Amino acid sequence: MTTYFITIEGSEGAGKTTQLTFMRDFLERAGYPVTLTREPGGTLLGEELRALLLGHRDDGMALKTETLLMFAARAEHLERVIRPALAAGHWVLCDRFTDATYAYQGGGRGLPMAQIAVLEEWVQGDLRPDLTLLLDLPVAVGRARAGKRSPADRFERETVEFFERVRVAYRDRAQQHPDRYRIVDAAPPIAIVRAQVEKLLAQWLERG
Ligand code: TMP
Repeated sequence: MTTYFITIEGSEGAGKTTQLTFMRDFLERAGYPVTLTREPGGTLLGEELRALLLGHRDDGMALKTETLLMFAARAEHLERVIRPALAAGHWVLCDRFTDATYAYQGGGRGLPMAQIAVLEEWVQGDLRPDLTLLLDLPVAVGRARAGKRSPADRFERETVEFFERVRVAYRDRAQQHPDRYRIVDAAPPIAIVRAQVEKLLAQWLERG
C-alpha cells in the first residue's frame, strides 16, 4: 500500500488552511484515507509549543530557541502522528512543515540554511514530503487578508520586508526541489485557487 506525505506552504493570508480542507475532501472522495494535521502543533505537546511560539512574550525568544522549539514540536509530531499515520495506510496532509523553517527562520530571520539542514537530517532522517504545494501571493495581498483575522500572532506582526524574504525563500526552495514542489497562484478568489489545487492534485495522482 502506497501512502503519501503532502504539505502545504505559503505566507500569511495565502488561504492554506482552507485549501487543505478542500484537498482532504478531494482525496477522500477519491477513496484515500487522510490524516489532516498542522505545524507547529498536531500533538498535545506540539500545540503547547505552538502557543509558546506564536504567543507574545515580553522578552522575545532567541532565534536558536525558536528554531529548536519548531523542531521539538516536529519530532513529537513525526513520532506520534505522521509516521504512525503513514504506516497505518493514511495519506498525511500537513499544514506547513520543514520548508516553513527554511522560509521563516532561514529566509525571514537569517538563520543559515545549512544549520536547518542539520536539524532536518537529525529529526527526520530521510523522511521528506512527497508533494509540497506552495500557495504564492504578493505580500501586500496576503497581509490585507490576514489582517482581517484577529488578533495578529508573533509572526503576523513581522514587517513587510520579513515577509518578502519569506516569500523569496519559499520560491527558492521550490526551484531547488522541482520534483516535489508545485506553485499555485493564491491571489485569485478561493474557488479559483481550489480549482487550481484540485487540477494539480489530479495530475499528480495520474503521474506515471
Ligand atoms: P499558521 O499555521 O497560522 O500559518 O501559523 C504558524 C506560524 O508559524 C506561521 O507564521 C509560520 C510559523 N512557522 C515558522 O516560523 N517555522 C516553522 O517551521 C513552522 C512550521 C511555522
